[in-house]
This record gives sequence, C-alpha cells and structure tokens, in this order.
Amino acid sequence: MNKDLKKIQQDIQSRLREITDASALRNFEKKYLGKKGELADFSKNMKNLPLEDRRDIGKEIQEIRKEVESLLSKLRNKFSGDNSQENFFDVTLPGEKIASGHLHPLTLVQRDLERIFSSMGFMILEGPELESDFYNFEALNIPKTHPARDMQDTFYIEGTSDLVMRTHTSNVQVRAMEKYGAPLRAVALGRIFRNEATDASHEHTFHQIEGLMVDKKISLANLAAVLKEMFSGLYEQDVNIRMRPGYFPFVEPGLEVEMSCVFCSGKGCSVCKKTGWVEMLGAGLVHPNVLRAGNIDPDKYQGFAFGTGIERLAMLKYGINDIRLFNAGDLSFLKQF
Ligand code: DAH
Repeated sequence: MNKDLKKIQQDIQSRLREITDASALRNFEKKYLGKKGELADFSKNMKNLPLEDRRDIGKEIQEIRKEVESLLSKLRNKFSGDNSQENFFDVTLPGEKIASGHLHPLTLVQRDLERIFSSMGFMILEGPELESDFYNFEALNIPKTHPARDMQDTFYIEGTSDLVMRTHTSNVQVRAMEKYGAPLRAVALGRIFRNEATDASHEHTFHQIEGLMVDKKISLANLAAVLKEMFSGLYEQDVNIRMRPGYFPFVEPGLEVEMSCVFCSGKGCSVCKKTGWVEMLGAGLVHPNVLRAGNIDPDKYQGFAFGTGIERLAMLKYGINDIRLFNAGDLSFLKQF
C-alpha cells in the first residue's frame, strides 16, 4: 500500500477509536471523508503519481472508504439519540407553528350586536362600571326605600354611601338623555356586577346590552320591530317574538320578551323546555319619571328601553350550557370559537 495512504488509514483507525460523541463523529467525517477531507485530497493528488500505480491506489482508497463507512454507520446508530449537537440546526425539520389568538365569544357577539344596531342608526355607548347610586337606581325610578332595590343587590364601595358597582347597563339611560337629549337612539354594552351566588346560569360579573330609543310617538310596535331585527341578525334566521307583562321600575308598561326557539324553530325542545319560546330580555316603554330625570318632557316624547345579558345571547348562539365558562380561562373551551 502507498506509504502516505497507509498513514492516513492508520490515522483514521486510531481516531475512530477515540470518537465518543456525535459532535466528535461529525468532525471526524469532515476531516477524513468530506469533499475537503484528507482522502479527497489524496485522490486529487493522484494525478502526480505514475499511471501504473494509480489503479491500485484507487482501489485501496475505495476499500478504506468502505471500511470506514461501515464503522461510521455503527457509530451513527450509537449516537443517534445524542443531543450534544450544540450548533447543529436541521433545516429539514418541519417548522413550529406560531399559535395565533382569536376573539373571545363574548367579543364576537358584542361586535355582532354593535354592527346590527349601528345599521339601524343607534349610537354605541359605554358607561362607568363604578356608578353613582343616582344613575344606577334613583334616576331609574328606584328610590332608596323602595322594595325594588332588592331585585338587584350589588357590591358597595366601603367609605362611600353613593358609589356602587353598576348592576345593569341601564345606568347609561339617563346619562345618554342628559348628554344627547331627544330624539335619541343608543345601545350601551359593558360589564356589570351582582351580589349573586354563582351556578350554571348565574355569575357575579357579566355583560349586558341596554337599548334606548326616544322620539315622538314611540310605541311597543317600534320596540318589537327593533328586537326582531336584533334577534334575526344575531341568530341568522327569521325569528318571532312575543311579549308578556313584567315588572321593572323604569318602564311602564314593563315587559318580558320571548323569542321563538332558534334550536327547534318553535317546535319544542330541551332548550325551550318544550314551549317553543325562550325568555330573552326585559323591556318596556320608558317611565315618565325616567324621562324627567334625563330632562326630557314626557308629554312631548316617549321611548322604549330593553336590556339583557350578552352571555345569555352568546350561550344561545353557540349552545353553551354554563355561564361560568366565559371567565374560566379554559383554553379547550375558548379554542372552539
Ligand atoms: N336592567 C334590567 C336588568 O338588569 C333589564 C331591563 C329590563 C332593562 C327592562 C330595560 C328594561 O331597559 O326596560 O335586569
């Protein structure tokens, strides 16, 4: 065997014995087998050798390569689980997908509602969550001593007698009247608070939409038309509504509004408890005392108002059976929207 080649072969064998990890293996492959490795160099220099020697040497090089390759493949197997490849970056691995966020189901419904009411010329309003007793109760025809206060218990702020966490978005009614006067078309959406034991359909903190329209000759027919438009737009199907008397201090007459069940189209199912109707919201014609509190003359103007929980609307839209899921931060729930 050629003297130089013999030296390379011996060198290779002794180096192979020293390899103990994957990165040493890679260095080795580069040094002896790569395009710029010692064997390749030697082959390149063969052109300087006498022609009759070249064939034999070529064969010897091939044999060395074969022998080394088979030893190497054993070593590669041995180190295949080895992670000490600090600077190794495998560009052929599939990329890691970057998770993208998305809107919360309540935000989706809130945006639907804002779109529907904007299209009917309603302003979109917000109000303070920490509210004065006046806007939350007094101005809405709920005097301090009146038993109607018991309908909505809330959280009070220590050290003040006047501030409460608002119990409904109805607090925006008189604020809107004061600010914009009549005629007026507005919805107010936002977070509200109740001193409430929680269960599948009750939360201490949730969201409401309040609607208010004040103009000349406003009647329940206007209310019915607007609510039908709201439900049909939100549930993307034609729905019917019906009204029953209900008591709320800030409206006269006061109403409970029901919607034909969007799950069974009114035929009767478990959601509507076989009645074909689902109770959706409270509403009515604005009480003259409330108009007066907002500096609007009840002899010239009338109004309708309604209010309901956005969670409730969303639960019916998406078939959610527990209100507590909205704030639970459970990704397996949230990822469905
Ligand atoms: N504020 C009421 C509640 O939170 C809902 C409501 C009922 C709003 C009747 C209204 C209304 O505007 O007219 O239970």
